[in-house]
Amino acid sequence: MDSLLIKGGVPLHGDVHISGAKNAVLPLMAATLLTEEECIIHRVPDLSDVKFMGQILQSLGAEVKFDGGTVTIRAAKIKPHGDYELIRKMRGSICIMGPLLSRMRKATVSLPGGCVIGARPIDLHLKGFEALGTKVVINGGYIHATARKLRGNELFLGGRSGPTVLGTANVMMAASLADGVTIIESAACEPEVIDLANFLNAMGAKVVGAGSPTITITGVKALHGAEHEVIPDRIEAATFAIAAAATNGDVTIHGARADHMNAVLDKLREAGVKVERKGPALRVRRNGALKPVDITTLPYSGFPTDVQAQMMLLMCLIPGISIITERIFESRFMHVSELARLGADISIEGPSAIVKGGKPLSGAPVMASDLRASAALVLAGMTAKGTTEVNRIYHLDRGYEKIDSKLRKLGARIERVKES
Ligand code: EPU
Repeated sequence: MDSLLIKGGVPLHGDVHISGAKNAVLPLMAATLLTEEECIIHRVPDLSDVKFMGQILQSLGAEVKFDGGTVTIRAAKIKPHGDYELIRKMRGSICIMGPLLSRMRKATVSLPGGCVIGARPIDLHLKGFEALGTKVVINGGYIHATARKLRGNELFLGGRSGPTVLGTANVMMAASLADGVTIIESAACEPEVIDLANFLNAMGAKVVGAGSPTITITGVKALHGAEHEVIPDRIEAATFAIAAAATNGDVTIHGARADHMNAVLDKLREAGVKVERKGPALRVRRNGALKPVDITTLPYSGFPTDVQAQMMLLMCLIPGISIITERIFESRFMHVSELARLGADISIEGPSAIVKGGKPLSGAPVMASDLRASAALVLAGMTAKGTTEVNRIYHLDRGYEKIDSKLRKLGARIERVKES
């Protein structure tokens, strides 16, 4: 497995361009299953999760062609049975279920397991499908979903931790070809949900209210091909903003949507980071000494769980006590023990991490446990004294396009060591 060798102590300087959002493109690619016509998606990031979704669609019978940042997909003839092993490997693949059900009235996919950040159940997805008239049977590791007819309905999709992002996407897609009107209450409001609704509407669907907790979908008879550009990755942009602050650098972030990042930018400003709008770009640098801050992760427009680990690293550098409360995924603190290897002082109390910041970090070999934890460790390596070796970086390649070369261009001393 490849690893990254990082020599710390270099402030990042310069310009970085943000890629298309991983968490938007996966449901968009799944949505192409809703039509037999060709769909073209631009600003597609070169990520292993995206390639993987391409393989899943191919295994269902779709033609998938990647060309630079564009993917062309034609799902003229498809089957409703997904490849067990392929689907099981990536949790995001659950969002093929809604389109398969909508188009074929049938979907058989493997049950996604838990993962390192928590249990990750799919009860809300299934509740949504059942509300539209689907019969769901779980057998032999597969979810078998069948419907004679999908009928619009009113349903509440809120769970213990609030709304579900992919669950909302799945039900929106299932309802788009159903008979009648579906109203999703407690829908996820994430920008990725809005992006999907825009794509569905470009395909001829009737989706209203995406971005609010109530989404109304009026079913149509058929959808057609469409062309779409993926929104920028707000999590990647937030990661670079934190990297600029953490290394005491000065970075201009191009192509991000600041309006998708309010919670993160607000916390950075509260911590003493200067975030300036420069036309459509964002310039990020420190504004004197940083101050401790507390954060609680929440559904959008709250502070995103996907930026929690990176923010924790920043807190490690700020003298004083900062507290993070994780309200979305119960065990998303795997990075704590790895940050401790570099000298961080963090203790876990239930859903909260108490960070005693300001102790100098020094390089060490660390192990990435999930995508965002990996990003935090890379940022930690850039601020630590000496060399940090981040192992198992396949997690990073799942969700950050060319992160090492983007960081190198900003001056970071970071080198990818290929497995021999
Ligand atoms: N939940 C349920 N039942 C369900 C579905 C979710 O109880 O049926 C719970 C989850 O256990 C969690 C909460 O609801 O406590 C929110 O989970 P959600 O369903 O919103 O997560 P997701 O849609 O599976 C997406 C992103 C994640 C991101 C979360 C939250 C994709 C491919 N994944 O997951 O991204 O953390 O939303 O914003 O879009 C990442 O990029 O690193 C990542 C993990």
